[in-house]
Amino acid sequence: MRILGIETSCDETAAAVVQDGRRVLSNRVLSQIPLHEVYGGVVPEIASRAHVEAIIPMVRGAVEDAGMALADLDAVAVTRGPGLVGCLLVGMETAKALALALGKPLICVQHIAGHLYSPYLGRERDAWGAEVSAPPPPFEPYIGLVVSGGHSSVVLVEGPARFTVLGETLDDAVGEAYDKVAKHMGLGYPGGPLLDRLAQDGDPRSFAFPRSLLDRTGFDFSFSGVKTAVARAVDSMGGPQAVRADAVLLANICASFQAAAVDVLLDRAGRALRRHRLRRIAVTGGVACNRGLRAALRARLKDACIALPDPEFCTDNAAMIAGLAYHLAPQGGSPPTVNATASLALAGDWRGGA
Ligand code: KG4
Ligand code: ZN
Repeated sequence: MRILGIETSCDETAAAVVQDGRRVLSNRVLSQIPLHEVYGGVVPEIASRAHVEAIIPMVRGAVEDAGMALADLDAVAVTRGPGLVGCLLVGMETAKALALALGKPLICVQHIAGHLYSPYLGRERDAWGAEVSAPPPPFEPYIGLVVSGGHSSVVLVEGPARFTVLGETLDDAVGEAYDKVAKHMGLGYPGGPLLDRLAQDGDPRSFAFPRSLLDRTGFDFSFSGVKTAVARAVDSMGGPQAVRADAVLLANICASFQAAAVDVLLDRAGRALRRHRLRRIAVTGGVACNRGLRAALRARLKDACIALPDPEFCTDNAAMIAGLAYHLAPQGGSPPTVNATASLALAGDWRGGA
């Protein structure tokens, strides 16, 4: 079964074709970063307009890359929510029109569920190490840590679409905190990759930034405290310009911020594994590309089986939508009356429509 996936929930216009839920035949992503970086964040109106311009060529390209014609597709999958509603609408209307014109089912997918599914994707092997052309091995439950610009969640995954949310951020998502810290320091957008690079040369113990909620037994996150603490430290050192002019100080601040963020993520991941007596953990979302986080996971969760998807499947992409849709197809598609929704829960039925 070959499914076209479409993803436009934020600032990436993405289209992909995935065979039988795991083998990625094509994966096109057009990032809008150059359009938003002057504003230091995503501007929803600019994002949806850019999706309108890019979506048809992206879909054509993904189908072509897969060596197929539109008529060869078995279904059309799309992100229905959560996300920026004006952006989601572009993907939804395109997918609805395509499904109707081709006479194929329309399968609606929840964006975070897509991220949680990303360890099963690959061109030859998936992030668990299994061959994607072989029949899928029996499903084993795992802890999913979704860390992106919009989300920070710890989830118990008991089937491709069976989730129990254990914890979420109470304020900023971790990627958002990276972006805001970088913005405060005048470093550019998006901040995550920039801070990650600068942190490599710094001393993570030079500043004792707060690790929020480490004393609690739950799994929620809070990143606004550490963000504010970094901003205060920067201001007390003479402000962003002075900090940027001192390469050692800049690297030390970035490394100390990253250490605080990573400590909190590792605490939740480790405790969730122990609480549910599991060995498997998958870390996805844009922040899962972070080198400090990847190294710390391998060093500190020694007994765990860790799936760290390829960066192209960690950041927003449509392969994760097409892959998960394969498992939803048996329950039937959505009616053409279905609408995008800015807030769509992880648990529940995503099909919508009257
Ligand atoms: O998953 P994603 O592409 O989009 C959302 O759904 O949000 O994640 C984007 C986020 C941004 O906040 C970006 O700064 C962060 O992921 N990010 C990183 C790194 N690469 C991307 N954060 C830390 N380290 C990185 N290497
Ligand atoms: Zn995302």
